[in-house]
Amino acid sequence: MVDVHITARALTSLLGDWRGTDAAYRSLSDRVRLLILDGRVPTDTRLPAERDLAERLGLSRTTVTAAYRELRENGYLESLRGSGSVARLPGAAPDVAPVREHGALDFSKASMPASALVAEASVAAAARLPRYLTEFDYDPVGLPELRRALAERYSAAGLPTSPDEIMVTLGAQHAIGLLARTMVSRGDRALLEMPSYPHAHDALRAVGARLVPVTVTSDRGWDDAEVTQAFERTNPVLAYLMPDFHNPTGASMTPATRATVRRAAARTGTILVIDETTADLSIDRAAPHRPFAADNAEGARIITIGSLGKTVWGGLRIGWIRADRATIRKLVVARSIGDLGTPILEQLVSVELLPRLDEIIDLRRSQLAATRYRVEQLLAENFPRWEVPRVHGGLALWVGIGAPLSSQLALASRSQGLVVAAGPRFGIDGAFERFLRIPITYSIPETERGIEALRRAWASLVRDPAPAMPDLASVV
Ligand SMILES: Cc1ncc(COP(=O)(O)O)c(C=O)c1O
Repeated sequence: MVDVHITARALTSLLGDWRGTDAAYRSLSDRVRLLILDGRVPTDTRLPAERDLAERLGLSRTTVTAAYRELRENGYLESLRGSGSVARLPGAAPDVAPVREHGALDFSKASMPASALVAEASVAAAARLPRYLTEFDYDPVGLPELRRALAERYSAAGLPTSPDEIMVTLGAQHAIGLLARTMVSRGDRALLEMPSYPHAHDALRAVGARLVPVTVTSDRGWDDAEVTQAFERTNPVLAYLMPDFHNPTGASMTPATRATVRRAAARTGTILVIDETTADLSIDRAAPHRPFAADNAEGARIITIGSLGKTVWGGLRIGWIRADRATIRKLVVARSIGDLGTPILEQLVSVELLPRLDEIIDLRRSQLAATRYRVEQLLAENFPRWEVPRVHGGLALWVGIGAPLSSQLALASRSQGLVVAAGPRFGIDGAFERFLRIPITYSIPETERGIEALRRAWASLVRDPAPAMPDLASVV
């Protein structure tokens, strides 16, 4: 078995400011539990030896032993003879099972319910399926009519595309993982935004990339000078970026920043992987989305990722990669290590849906606008001190909560029936304890219920605040 372990140093950095008002062992075990629950410490990871962690954290060994014991008793750690303590997810941990039973709200996912058109499109697709049963089976590149429809959509949006520049994938995440595996070797540098979409940094980290962060904020977006410097100083092999309605900040690049990115990438020979999964989800912008790659006087090498996951339905699992033909061929060859193709039926459903995609997007826009309004209202009423940015599209608000309490709030929310991703899930090394991502994708009643749960969780923390709240800016 592969030995996956986390060093005391890496765990300390993920722990961030973990101390609360409880006894040290309890606060420590609570924070490790959250890291396991939200995937920052993947299950089956071997934790550092108690002595090493105690030394690194400046604690007595007894404190760490007590924290590990508590984790073990609750099913989050298993001690294996000769292999130390390994992270586990308990089948029926006391704080997980009841919450599920009572229908916990999962704000850790920012995705909308399925479009009502999916069922109708599936019936039409099933009727067409018999014609495909003899001609198609394993399909690593995508059905010709789906690739054609996607290419036409790009061409109409200002980026002339031919069907053989498209590869259909199992959602955008599959595309990100495949590109990471194919384009990045262990030790290569990969640039990405901070904060960023967590499963993208997981994918890049999994292939051994050294991550180069560039800052994005909700109000100021990207800093052109920082972006240029990051490219020039590190010569990254690949840069993974979300120029439109960036997840989680909701920021979009200005035309000047887009040009800066392309210029820098062209100079350093970096492959730009542009994730446009959320790019169509505009609330205020009237003009249809213009693909990032549509303007490229700078001559950067650009690969675009798209998906129907956020516009139509996450359960459809249809995404795609747009790239030059040689890259598509390379990706098709590399794909078979992980999977042997995209299901034909789901592709036929997508073929049915694409002509109505703009209609679906229009509906999404009004749903997102209504929920954004309600979330803004509820946050202003319940958390007048939180900094709530005005986003013009996307799926969530990246809210400043004014104190480095995001992980504690996420834990307290679980007891209130709300699963929410703590700010640090969107960063690396424990940053963003002062932020929380709040989705604007739920129905109004669910949103109200979720924010009420947050209010109760926050009240339980504030009633009992941590004695000294260090300024996280000095830690990040
Ligand atoms: C920016 C971004 N890219 C990719 C994905 C994954 O999309 P898919 O469901 O198509 O795999 C998500 C989903 O949250 C996302 O937010």
